[in-house]
Amino acid sequence: MLYRDMPSFDLPDMDGTSAIVILTGAGISKESGLDTFRDADGVWSKVRIEDVATPEAFAANPVRVQEFYNHRRAGLLGADIHPNSAHQALAKLQQNWPGDFLLVTQNVDDLHERGGSNGLIHMHGELLKSRCTECHDVEACAVDLSSDSICANCGTIGSLRPDVVWFGEMPMGMERIYAALARCALFVSIGTSGNVYPAAGFVQEARFVGGAHTVELNLEPSAGVTAFEAAYHGPATKLVPAFVDAVLAKV
Ligand code: APR
Repeated sequence: MLYRDMPSFDLPDMDGTSAIVILTGAGISKESGLDTFRDADGVWSKVRIEDVATPEAFAANPVRVQEFYNHRRAGLLGADIHPNSAHQALAKLQQNWPGDFLLVTQNVDDLHERGGSNGLIHMHGELLKSRCTECHDVEACAVDLSSDSICANCGTIGSLRPDVVWFGEMPMGMERIYAALARCALFVSIGTSGNVYPAAGFVQEARFVGGAHTVELNLEPSAGVTAFEAAYHGPATKLVPAFVDAVLAKV
């Protein structure tokens, strides 16, 4: 159901001591001008995952993979890309919620940080970081990477890759994420199609291990919508600020 005016959100009995876990996906950054992956005009409508987002692709054609991430990195650093009111609302929730709070994002952009969030887990890595395949050093990276790039730590030439998690690789921060899911009272999934595991399974973990109230906030029903106890559909910049205000009213 798309809401013309804001819904009244069905929230559980919780208070400021309750723990909250938020999961975000590409949909939260869409209104900031960054493409999602599986929308009609999404990233995977223009290039194949197998060609640019697997370790095998990088081994077979590192130039093509580096160019794909160089293009996305430069786009993210564009003057017209800014955090939106949904990013800012989650930062406001983190700042004002007295209980435990964990933001987990599948996104490799830095718009949550630019919107004021901190301590979040980028489970699929970060576009603005590079990793050395020789010494595993991770550094901030705002420039193009290539076979000429030199590792600042070990000096190896051509060993730097984007510090993002490719398909077939282990997502980051999983132990911390599952520990938080096991004891949260509220789990909210924002802007994700629910197509990619393990993130798509977090709702089950939160609901059946943590006993959490589970909420989906998305433009349209996700693949996992039936697993949520409540689902509200509309643009993140409309739903998320209103949802955050409803949660903060519980404090
Ligand atoms: N507000 C809220 N939701 C939106 C908006 C918006 N303005 N625009 C799009 N969406 C929703 C879409 O309806 C879709 O369900 O965001 C979701 C984006 O889904 P995907 O494109 O599949 O992105 P995501 O779920 O983040 O993908 C997960 O897959 O390719 C990998 O590593 C990549 O992290 C990514 C992962």
